[in-house]
Amino acid sequence: MGKITVIQHEAAFDTVAAWRIISAVEDKADAVIGLSTGRTTKGLHQRVVEIHADYPFDVSRVTFFGQDEIAGVPRDYWGACYTMLKTEIIDGLGIPDDRFRMLPTASDDFEASCRAFTEGIDRRGGIDLLMLGLGENGHIGFNQPGTPFDAPTRLAGIHPELEARVRRDLSLPDDAPLGGVTLGLKDAMRARKVVLVAKGRHKAEAVRHILRGPLTPEWPGSLLQLHPACEYLLDAEAASLL
Ligand code: GLP
Repeated sequence: MGKITVIQHEAAFDTVAAWRIISAVEDKADAVIGLSTGRTTKGLHQRVVEIHADYPFDVSRVTFFGQDEIAGVPRDYWGACYTMLKTEIIDGLGIPDDRFRMLPTASDDFEASCRAFTEGIDRRGGIDLLMLGLGENGHIGFNQPGTPFDAPTRLAGIHPELEARVRRDLSLPDDAPLGGVTLGLKDAMRARKVVLVAKGRHKAEAVRHILRGPLTPEWPGSLLQLHPACEYLLDAEAASLL
């Protein structure tokens, strides 16, 4: 079982989480670091940029990548993971495109694109640190409940709530295909270190299931119980049912 770190206040949470990323870069100049998007990670990304402005640690060799992406939207849509990460952290650190790897929002062959993405990560030495968000239903990336633990990086489905928001935002017709391209659970488990971040009372149930419940595809995050170097960074509310 991994290490559990509980932090009371949001500002401190973001600072501690930001330092997990900074330390990974300081430990290894050419580190490969996976990022997640969402409400939980926005503040910590911004904190990394703020700290970098005061304390310019060397990012000239680091590679960042996003663990998932929405398929079927323009890449510059504000809700696309590419645009979120670029605005929150990538541009602020001045990372060029060749060291910011994303799964595509559009592809003629998602299977080949996913293969190229994971091969690209492997060529750079594999994932050193993977910062993971957690869905209320225990999902990781777009690996929804029921995903087999050995699922590869692939085009998967998108959850109804997100689908409705994207269609509304972009005025997409009901039949325009949407999906979620995601790092597979199998590939996430290959990261040397994982830091799962969760904030808020609405995540408490999922946190309890993935940490205290049985290992089950019904709670994809429970697979992390088998990871040899996983830290769970939680605020007091997310940890309240442990
Ligand atoms: C979405 C994203 C995940 C993210 C999760 C948590 O499902 N595809 O990458 O980890 O939401 O988001 P939030 O932090 O907003 O709860």
